[in-house]
Amino acid sequence: MASPYDVMFRQVLARMDPEVAHEQAHRAIRLGGRAVGAALPVPAAPRTVMGVRFPHAFGLAAGFDKNATAVPGLLALGFGHVEIGTVTAKPQPGNPRPRLFRLVDDRAVVNRMGFNNDGAAVVAARLHRLRQREVGRDAVIGVNIGKTKVVEPEHAVADYVESARLLAPFADYLVVNVSSPNTPGLRDLQAVEQLEPILAAVRQVTEANHGGRVPLVVKIAPDLADDDVDAVADLALSLGLDGISATNTTIARPESLRTDRAVVEAAGVGGLSGPILAERATEVLTRLRARAGDRLALIGVGGVATPDDVRARLAAGADLVQGYTSFIYEGPLWPRRMALAAR
Ligand code: FNR
Repeated sequence: MASPYDVMFRQVLARMDPEVAHEQAHRAIRLGGRAVGAALPVPAAPRTVMGVRFPHAFGLAAGFDKNATAVPGLLALGFGHVEIGTVTAKPQPGNPRPRLFRLVDDRAVVNRMGFNNDGAAVVAARLHRLRQREVGRDAVIGVNIGKTKVVEPEHAVADYVESARLLAPFADYLVVNVSSPNTPGLRDLQAVEQLEPILAAVRQVTEANHGGRVPLVVKIAPDLADDDVDAVADLALSLGLDGISATNTTIARPESLRTDRAVVEAAGVGGLSGPILAERATEVLTRLRARAGDRLALIGVGGVATPDDVRARLAAGADLVQGYTSFIYEGPLWPRRMALAAR
């Protein structure tokens, strides 16, 4: 039977421009969060990962709350943690609209948002205010940082360091995102020679943070070859990183997509997310676990849609599990259902 959300999705949301629908949903969650204050609706099943205590293993992946304006409302829906961002050192508008597209028959989306965000200084000030409130002090917030578009690759290190300096003081963990397809050249930073100086420099910032060291994670693409996945794992280990998040969206357009080719092509370039990602994301996760043993924390993300997916991702070696795209298709009761499997 169709749930009330299914009906609303088909009758209302699916008829709206996807980004406008996102903005409306985000606003409702933000305002809802003001009303509820500190809610903890899911029976806690705490687990300590990277030295941080998470109320349960399931959280919201980066990209939904880029500017950290809706954290209390998102936690009230049942997410155990929220990864905000991607935030860049300088504010930027992102790509021209339209830049978000639904592939409904796959319960997938294609996005080329391009890191639209308020910039690290504004988001840091917002997090500072949030952390002064009870709901914000208790919240587990990951902060995902990326490269400012106009910054040349040879200056990427300084750009990431600036974001890390401003944001680490308010982060439970920090994520270096080198895997979004929508900033030209960004994913090339996943090559170990490029990645090493960025992670090493950000690591110095997170180690020297005033309030104590902040765990550091790198987020990778599902499009990396297996050897490159291994190389990132080895680099993370040699630099003393705390974890890897696997994975971001894919630039591939698999044959197995059900959505009409014309619809897929009309969406154009960008990152594809949703259940179509699950197989490769799980493969990368399994590979990382085999390579790193228990020396790295792993965040399993990509195509997680059902409680069984949460359990499968944990069984494949994830310490934490995240989702985004299925939240769009499943609605506000989804995080709670997922949380109950993340115990
Ligand atoms: C994302 N994702 C993302 N990831 C990231 O590290 N920084 C970001 O800014 C964004 N932005 C973003 C926007 C939109 C509209 C989507 C759908 C996704 C990727 C996201 O965090 C996640 O890694 C992938 O979407 C795979 O998980 P799901 O969506 O299949 O559960």
